[in-house]
Amino acid sequence: MTTTPSFAIPGGSIPALGYGTGPMTGGMSADAVLTALKIGYRHIDTGRKYGTEHLVGEAIAASGLPRGDIFVTTKVSHENLRPADFARSVEESLKALRLDYVDLMMVHWPNPDIPLDVVMSALAKTKRDGVARHIGVANFNTTLLDQAIRLCDEPLSVLQAEYHPYLDQTKLLAAVRRHGLAFVAYCPLARGRMFSDVVLGDIAAAHGKGIAQVALRWLIQQNVVPIPFSSKPERIADNFNIFDFTLSDDEMKRIAALKRPDGRIANPVERVSGGWD
Ligand SMILES: NC(=O)c1ccc[n+]([C@@H]2O[C@H](COP(=O)([O-])OP(=O)(O)OC[C@H]3O[C@@H](n4cnc5c(N)ncnc54)[C@H](OP(=O)(O)O)[C@@H]3O)[C@@H](O)[C@H]2O)c1
Repeated sequence: MTTTPSFAIPGGSIPALGYGTGPMTGGMSADAVLTALKIGYRHIDTGRKYGTEHLVGEAIAASGLPRGDIFVTTKVSHENLRPADFARSVEESLKALRLDYVDLMMVHWPNPDIPLDVVMSALAKTKRDGVARHIGVANFNTTLLDQAIRLCDEPLSVLQAEYHPYLDQTKLLAAVRRHGLAFVAYCPLARGRMFSDVVLGDIAAAHGKGIAQVALRWLIQQNVVPIPFSSKPERIADNFNIFDFTLSDDEMKRIAALKRPDGRIANPVERVSGGWD
């Protein structure tokens, strides 16, 4: 396989696997993004807050790939959701990325201090103006997602949230499906916390795969789009090599049973009034 399959989203499609460029663990470089593009990743996730958009822009330019072949996501940070700040953030993102549009523009986190209708109209404008082909929200719970969809004049295509075998996202996933959106999973490798897991290790051994590959495959088989980060070329390649095996129903269930009450990693809960579900 040279590139990934895609999942349908309202008004188009999204590559089923992306490369994350907002690591809390460090090690991001334009070379790493270029490696991902050479391996076959066609979906790159960034955000204004990460300070990595210029590296993504550099790598895309160096790859020589046609613009239309790459799905690029960026995000507006929670402190920039008022209309003038929002517009400025979008402009800065496009400049850093060296692009005249992104494939997906997202609200990075909700902000209870800014009315949601104001935020959603700033987001909708990016789609209407053609600087975003699709729009979406990240770190919204089910209540906020329902409100966002109701308040937005343009259709949302994607919700992005933390999801991996240690975190139960049953409710949020059901809401995303009910609305016909795609679920993009961040921290799909639980930032490295699962690598000594015995159950994942057994299943990985049975398929001749690694734990990271099994964790990513588990998401893909739920039609969820993982966006793993690695700074290391061999791991970037391993994380891509997940389309040649299938987990059984029993294996899918055994992995789902690994959920833990303390499984969440990204945790500024004060921004999500009403809790995570
Ligand atoms: N919307 C949001 O609020 C939000 C929040 C967090 C993250 N994100 C997005 O999601 C992306 C992914 O999340 P993340 O970077 O936090 O965590 P992650 O992808 O779950 O884990 C990354 C960590 O796993 C290690 N790793 C990667 N592949 C591996 C493999 N095959 N074997 C062993 N170790 C491996 C990496 O280390 P090495 O570099 O040493 O390989 C790195 O430390 C981010 O880059 C960002 O784009 C979005």
